Amino acid sequence: MKMVVGVMVLGQLLTRLLLAAHVGDRLAAARRILRDVPLIDGHNDLPWNIRKFLKNQLRDFKFEDLRDAHPWARSAWSHTDLRRLKDGMVAAQFWSAYVPCSSQYLDSVQLALEQIDLIRRLVNKHPQNMVLVTTAAGIEIAHKEGRLASLIGVEGGHAVGNSLAVLRMLYELGARYLTLTHTCNTPWADCSTVDEPGQVPHIGGLSNFGKSVVLEMNRLGMMVDLSHVSVPTMLDAMHASRAPVIFSHSSAHALCNSSRNVPDHALRFLARNGGIVMVSFYPHFISCGEKSTLQDVAAHINHIRKVAGIDHIGIGAGYDGINLTPVGLEDVSKYPDLFAELLARGWSEKDVQKLAGLNLIRVFKAVEQVRDRMAGEGIEPLEEEIPRDDVIGRLYCRYPITPSTIP
Ligand SMILES: *[C@@H]1O[C@H](CO)[C@@H](O)[C@H](O)[C@H]1NC(C)=O
Ligand SMILES: [Zn+2]
Repeated sequence: MKMVVGVMVLGQLLTRLLLAAHVGDRLAAARRILRDVPLIDGHNDLPWNIRKFLKNQLRDFKFEDLRDAHPWARSAWSHTDLRRLKDGMVAAQFWSAYVPCSSQYLDSVQLALEQIDLIRRLVNKHPQNMVLVTTAAGIEIAHKEGRLASLIGVEGGHAVGNSLAVLRMLYELGARYLTLTHTCNTPWADCSTVDEPGQVPHIGGLSNFGKSVVLEMNRLGMMVDLSHVSVPTMLDAMHASRAPVIFSHSSAHALCNSSRNVPDHALRFLARNGGIVMVSFYPHFISCGEKSTLQDVAAHINHIRKVAGIDHIGIGAGYDGINLTPVGLEDVSKYPDLFAELLARGWSEKDVQKLAGLNLIRVFKAVEQVRDRMAGEGIEPLEEEIPRDDVIGRLYCRYPITPSTIP
């Protein structure tokens, strides 16, 4: 009897060791893949935390390692520093120049400029580790150099102040995507909250000016980001856009019916558009609750793959803009574990490469090609009358500006 028990225990131990070896192999394989192709994340809100915690002063900001730094170490909102980005093998990050809705019609343009300035100063302060990137090819070069490609995405269409001129200047400053809305409607685009029970549409998608914004972004070579917009806005933008679009941080509506997620019919349309959904890790979008796991995130990725296809999926965790994270994906050091999980579920190395970064690079290059084609067609900047009398928002700017978001 004793011997039987002994053999059983030994057997269990061996099984566990073998399993651990497999997991270790897969993690090693995931890390090897991420050395070959850049891991690109679509959305990180660190810049907003620097505004909240440090009022945008970088003097005492020790980005190398924040694990013991006050107030970062104790904050549920902090998941990002250079050390953990390196552990997580992140090659490219879209840093969010987020502009809160409370600034709409007030100082939203100023906030966008201040957050872009902050991202640029952060990058310039760490030239060994980071480099400002504004092209798809730049991501590949930075990956070879071993520096974090740092890209700028502006979050919230109100950041352009209803002005194509402002949109063009944000592009000049390095912004390579604009999220058409945050959690408020703009005068030209509905946000996702209008899709929620009991809410009514404001426009019912994009207005004609909203379609002009999309076309001007196509002409500039700026990606159209549809995270946060209503479903009719998603569809209108994909109809209007000459280039593939992105969702910088959203997940699958079929698995969690948050209005922030993408429904299956929009995923099928996205496949025809050529764009990608970069999957968010926020538990409220993954399990529609406070508790999620790495496996739950993998299920969203598999669902989007099943509906839209392997070419239409990416990663946009949303770290530093969320105060809850899935078990197993606690901070930016954990991405390789997610890719190891997908390898365990039968994904090929090529599939993982596409998810990690090749799909985003394809979309970014297609956006650049559309820009070049439109230039070849002689399409000029869209000239609007200033001020535009049909955009009600401008009226508000005649009132004194109050700094709405200084903490
Ligand atoms: C999600 O589904 C639940 C149950 O069907 C429903 O009560 C809830 O209103 C839905 N939420 C949204 C945002 O549609
Ligand atoms: Zn967001």
